[in-house]
Amino acid sequence: MTQDELKRAVAEAALAHIRPRLEDDSVLGIGTGSTANYFIDALADLRGQINATVASSEASAQRLKQHGIPVFDLNAVDRVDFYIDGADEANPYLQLIKGGGAALTREKIVAAVAREFICIADGSKLVDTLGAFPLPVEVIPMARSHVARELVKLGGDPVYREGVVTDNGNVILDVHNFMIPAPLEMEKRINNITGVVTNGLFALRPADVLLLGRESGVETLHAR
Ligand code: 5RP
Repeated sequence: MTQDELKRAVAEAALAHIRPRLEDDSVLGIGTGSTANYFIDALADLRGQINATVASSEASAQRLKQHGIPVFDLNAVDRVDFYIDGADEANPYLQLIKGGGAALTREKIVAAVAREFICIADGSKLVDTLGAFPLPVEVIPMARSHVARELVKLGGDPVYREGVVTDNGNVILDVHNFMIPAPLEMEKRINNITGVVTNGLFALRPADVLLLGRESGVETLHAR
């Protein structure tokens, strides 16, 4: 199977995972990226039964609307029942690196609200230690150089993601050569740098369930 076929398989598995628990008033949080796009496309088969979604990016909101699926502002709903999103890396504790698509801040907000966070990824995303994938950090534009210097002090090599402006009007630094054996501590340390909006570590709020697409089928991992 290709990586795209594995992504489609986990997206369909995510729909099967939540479907028995969907109610008329369920609110779905929808992530961003190619795996999340497969989930949105699978969700289109249930259009008419899905009455409320919240999107983690303008791109996902647009794709949902193109399918005729209602999208709400997060402030207009009182809860998010399920949040379905991809990841750039996941470890066995279901701590993640996210933000390859520059949507990390809104993703983190929707994940924070969600009752259940279901992460969907192809099997190549599971690692023992996070950090081979460069860690995205969303930064207020005027703080870019300051934050970069602080990230160097933490041991990383930050690289400005040229030409990318987030949905929030900010910029992204990708931290290379930065293995992260203690994700909880590092998430807090980076968030404490003045000028950082958020970073792509999802350790304070890891996934609850990880659906991994493998050649042999979809594997389900639960938080330890
Ligand atoms: C976007 C993300 C994505 O979930 C992550 O980059 C994975 O993307 P893909 O599903 O395309 O592999 O965090 O900000």
